[in-house]
Amino acid sequence: MTLEGKVALVTGGSGGLGRVHGLVLAEHGADVALVYNRSEAKALEVVKEVEEKGRKAMAVKIDLSDETSVQQGVERVHGELGPVDILVNNAAQGIVRAITITDMTKEDWDADIGVNLTGPFLLIKTVFPDMAQKGWGRIINVSSVTGTMGGFGQCSYAATKAGLIGLTKTVALEGARKNITCNAVVLGVFDAGSFYEVAEPFRERIIKRVAMRRSGDPRELSEVIAFLASEESSFVTGEAIEVSGGISLFTF
Ligand SMILES: NC(=O)c1ccc[n+]([C@@H]2O[C@H](COP(=O)([O-])OP(=O)(O)OC[C@H]3O[C@@H](n4cnc5c(N)ncnc54)[C@H](OP(=O)(O)O)[C@@H]3O)[C@@H](O)[C@H]2O)c1
Repeated sequence: MTLEGKVALVTGGSGGLGRVHGLVLAEHGADVALVYNRSEAKALEVVKEVEEKGRKAMAVKIDLSDETSVQQGVERVHGELGPVDILVNNAAQGIVRAITITDMTKEDWDADIGVNLTGPFLLIKTVFPDMAQKGWGRIINVSSVTGTMGGFGQCSYAATKAGLIGLTKTVALEGARKNITCNAVVLGVFDAGSFYEVAEPFRERIIKRVAMRRSGDPRELSEVIAFLASEESSFVTGEAIEVSGGISLFTF
């Protein structure tokens, strides 16, 4: 499996899981644009790590809730690395709000929808024409079992993660005859990023619900993303693939 000659854009490249996606895509041969919003220093560290693997990399600031910022960011990537072949919509906010529906403000709701759902929509809309022209594209949207199972105190986050699955299937249909695939990965819990924002006793309770009784190594996810980004997954589209060690299985 090789991604040589491909340009990948990974949102949340400054975050826990996005860093590993960037590194693994680079290990498979891709050049990588790592998108950050506030954490420039972290994104630049990942750029260095990717370059050490012998691939081209850049950090690009995009506020995913802002259409102009998305368009300008994609233009920068196009100028420095070339047109985007692989889009990984990984960034998210509002992951661990723990606010029940009556206390959730419309401002926070709108902000979460803006980053987690409107952001991927804007990015897909922006990169899709280049992919269609090339006759090749891979779009991977990062969803969560919170979107398929619900999450106490996570109404906005859950709604965005469920929404990404509908977006995935629609883009898959619209891209199918252009050789653009679009799939979602539906995450359980992983040893990186936002899972560590959850208090330890609560993390242990979550892990007891996982059939494999452990959280995932980020690479166990990034390799699935790399497969979905590759030529080898050419007949897989419109899927929502759970990568969770069996968190949604009936376990006891
Ligand atoms: N970790 C887990 O166990 C787990 C479980 C289920 C699902 N997930 C999903 O996996 C993905 C990555 O999660 P993570 O744990 O790695 O999260 P994380 O470490 O908290 O990273 C979140 C990323 O989102 C970016 N971001 C937030 N607001 C943004 C905005 N307005 N514009 C652009 N970027 C923005 C952040 O960039 P800046 O810091 O630069 O602003 C950061 O890079 C998310 O989609 C999350 O829902 C993770």
